[in-house]
Amino acid sequence: MGQEPLIYINGEFYPKSEAKIPVYDHGFLYGDGVFEGIRAYDGVVFKLREHIDRLYASAKAIILEIPMSKEEMIDAVLKTLRKNGLKDAYIRLVVTRGVGDLGLDPRKCGKPNVIIIAEPILALYKKEAKLKGLSLIISSVRRDRVDATTHQIKSLNYLNSILAKIEAIAAGADDAIMLDDRGFVAETSSTNIFLVKDGKVITPPSSTGALPGVTRNFVMELAKKLGYPVEERDVTPFELLTADEVFMTGTGAGIVPVTRIAGRTIGDGKAGRTTLRLMEEFEKECRKPENGIKIYPE
Ligand SMILES: Cc1ncc(COP(=O)(O)O)c(C=O)c1O
Repeated sequence: MGQEPLIYINGEFYPKSEAKIPVYDHGFLYGDGVFEGIRAYDGVVFKLREHIDRLYASAKAIILEIPMSKEEMIDAVLKTLRKNGLKDAYIRLVVTRGVGDLGLDPRKCGKPNVIIIAEPILALYKKEAKLKGLSLIISSVRRDRVDATTHQIKSLNYLNSILAKIEAIAAGADDAIMLDDRGFVAETSSTNIFLVKDGKVITPPSSTGALPGVTRNFVMELAKKLGYPVEERDVTPFELLTADEVFMTGTGAGIVPVTRIAGRTIGDGKAGRTTLRLMEEFEKECRKPENGIKIYPE
């Protein structure tokens, strides 16, 4: 077989075809668990510590005790990347509640299962497509309330997002913007959202139910460093439709321009100047060792 990826499960490595979790695991039965999507760029795992902090915060919110320390988890991620000989990768880190019975009670579950998958990412991929910008709808599915299954917890339950994604697919759009229960903009199905208006860079707060994205936080800091005023505040759908520029941020995609929303052209229909500047700087920054952890220390 040769090149089958090796998957980390509870400290052991298994070829992809043999990497299995029991069907009684509550991660499978109920979406009871937490996860992270992480990227490595050119041998540096971008903001790994921040991802691990968020994973443990999500776990704390659902009273799931991860059976290893944060340092051990960081080592396990790096070991998985080395084991697979990767420098540019997408990493999926999953912690499930573990095997229980058919009832909901998490106390019936044994030890949580820790799974780390790392796949190669080809550099330069989709650059042209990215610049064209995406077309979004505004979904009729509202983001779950912050006092319900809030997306501030990065849990294995993504049905709220999937329902919005289904709507986007049915409408022939690339993705969907999700509003909170008041009608303010929260985020898209799987990324955070920003608008640029009169030179200001604006993004909704996580009180809308938006995930406090690692990329979002970094882009806010980056924008400030480049001299743009940055605002974190409630955004109405009207503001988004009439913005000069709109872009999305996320670990998988980085920064992606949005050029159409619900049939309206955003700005002049192309990736805007501020968006392009941030994309360019982000591409440089995410490779810097000070913005992450090196996989192969010299
Ligand atoms: C619902 C949701 N919002 C936003 C994001 C972006 O967050 P990050 O930049 O940490 O990947 C993600 C991606 O994980 C997500 O699933």
